[in-house]
Amino acid sequence: MWRSLFRHVYEKAGGLLELGKKEASQKFPVLEDRPAGRRHAEQAMETFETIEKKKGATVKEFRIYRWSPDLTACGPMVLDALQKIKAEDDSTLTYRRSCREGICGSCAMNIDGTNTVACLKPIDADTSKPTTITPLPHMYVIKDLAVDLTNFYRQYKSIEPWLKTRRLSEDGREYRQTPAERKRLDRLYECILCACCSSSCPSYWWNPEEFLGPAALLQAYRWICDSRDEFADQRLQALTEDQKRLYGCRTIKNCTKTCPKSLDPAGAIHKMKARHLLSVPVEKAESR
Ligand code: SF4
Ligand code: SF4
Ligand code: FES
Repeated sequence: MWRSLFRHVYEKAGGLLELGKKEASQKFPVLEDRPAGRRHAEQAMETFETIEKKKGATVKEFRIYRWSPDLTACGPMVLDALQKIKAEDDSTLTYRRSCREGICGSCAMNIDGTNTVACLKPIDADTSKPTTITPLPHMYVIKDLAVDLTNFYRQYKSIEPWLKTRRLSEDGREYRQTPAERKRLDRLYECILCACCSSSCPSYWWNPEEFLGPAALLQAYRWICDSRDEFADQRLQALTEDQKRLYGCRTIKNCTKTCPKSLDPAGAIHKMKARHLLSVPVEKAESR
């Protein structure tokens, strides 16, 4: 009895397998004598049908080894490698760049975990390790390494980054400064608005709308420090009338650590806070 039952099940399974084979060869008659090709075709059909049925989660990440860079035929910086990949390997790779000299701030990105500008970042010569490049963190990505800087520039514009005076210059042409007054702008005017600092700041990640972020604040301080500008108090007031614009900074100092121009946005913020607190009555300062 067991033997006949076993034969019955065996024949049934064999029949199903034969049916499957028949169906498959009917679907792919040209692949009849090519089992591997037929298997792949069947899997492709299955994948297609599964994806069709899925409503969400249909984007899959592919990590593909595509480029084996010969570093002797490439410039020394990460931007050189990106240019080479774009020119020779994948023209769809998207990133911003312009000056190639650390002046325009366009090529800011995260390289091996640190925000920096790719044109000033040398390629790591250790060829046993890959280099990982991602867009600036916590920014909306437009494509590949290009992020949306609309909010960043809106905040920069809000600090009114231009000279504001009440009177005409003495000769009607230039507002002059002494060398000492000009020196006060050192380590401020060099900011290239790359956004490396703001996108490395946890306070900015949490509150990118209200907190102005270290880049806009360093720029604000640049104008507050300018001996020719006559609106320093008003500028400071505009930064502090809302609790978060300046005081959103929690002095974590990621901004200063990451700045590719070695500037000190955290220091500039600290000086503005000190200047503001010294100018407000104690009771008001205590409530902050
Ligand atoms: S302070 Fe430094 S990191 Fe920040 S925007 Fe300016 S140059 Fe870039
Ligand atoms: S010091 Fe202030 S601005 Fe700089 S990273 Fe920290 S919280 Fe952000
Ligand atoms: S390309 Fe201008 S800063 Fe890098």
